[in-house]
Amino acid sequence: MTQPKIFITRLIPDLGLNLVKEHFLPSAWTQDMPPSREQLLERVRGVDGLLCLLTEKIDGELMDAAGPQLKVISSMSVGVDHIDVPAATVRGIPVGNTPGVLTDATADQAFALMLAAARRITEAERFLRAGKWVTWQPSLLLGADLVGATLGIVGFGRIGQAIAKRAQGFDLRVIYHSPNAEPAYGAQPVDLDTLLHESDFVSINVPLKAETRHLVNAKFLAKMKPSAILVNTARGGVLDQNALYDALKANRIFAAALDVTDPEPLPMDCPLLELENCIIVPHLGSASKKTRDMMSLLAAQNLIAGLKGERLPHCVNPQVYG
Ligand code: DGY
Repeated sequence: MTQPKIFITRLIPDLGLNLVKEHFLPSAWTQDMPPSREQLLERVRGVDGLLCLLTEKIDGELMDAAGPQLKVISSMSVGVDHIDVPAATVRGIPVGNTPGVLTDATADQAFALMLAAARRITEAERFLRAGKWVTWQPSLLLGADLVGATLGIVGFGRIGQAIAKRAQGFDLRVIYHSPNAEPAYGAQPVDLDTLLHESDFVSINVPLKAETRHLVNAKFLAKMKPSAILVNTARGGVLDQNALYDALKANRIFAAALDVTDPEPLPMDCPLLELENCIIVPHLGSASKKTRDMMSLLAAQNLIAGLKGERLPHCVNPQVYG
């Protein structure tokens, strides 16, 4: 039997890579920087299986460049906004993702960012390192309390709910806006306007889709309290960064903390980087050793199942199975 041809777009953790190698002989892109579009189009030619990251744009053109034998696209991510899923579906190609295993890490990151923004941690550290700390002062770098505050979660899926679970330990009141999501962890469903008017913290946890692109825009931000803090651990495209800059610059909201930006990486001349009340980190929501190991394992399992003609354990377009 001829070996299937597999391309892995970056070196993934050994746990997943070794599992693939137990079954097949994959070829992997070994450089730190992702392949360019041209390199990717070239390397996918004739592959049966593709394991990619969220840094690669996987569209119909790329699927056609791979060829009609392409049996599976497996992404080492839960988000699949970098993949044209309908284009895969019409070609009968199952697309796999890695849900569940990064829920806790991402919820932890949202909480870390909430606390950091509330207590001005990054600004305070810059202040100290600049040699500006001369004495303890009653009003130095005052921030916001979590206890008794209201947390509004926009998007009450797995990660939104894990954030609500953590919020119980901080004595936060939790409200959420998410069509069809059942209440959990004491969180109450509300409409979006109520959430924005009542929340001291707003956490964005919706996937990026056409209908959520720039959901957080000038109108959204104008409805938030002037003392409110915005946290985005979803996707940069959910947020209009120009509108956020205007709101933060004019102190129309207190602060923002972003794990994700648009584009990624964020250009160093992005005006948001000038603001003391904006924390930005480089898309690290799932960046714990155990989580990335598990993501690589699920991505490998999806790839292997697809190549063997079996149903993917985590498939985002099950319509391909009729
Ligand atoms: C994902 O898997 O979609 C996450 O954004 C990675 O951190």
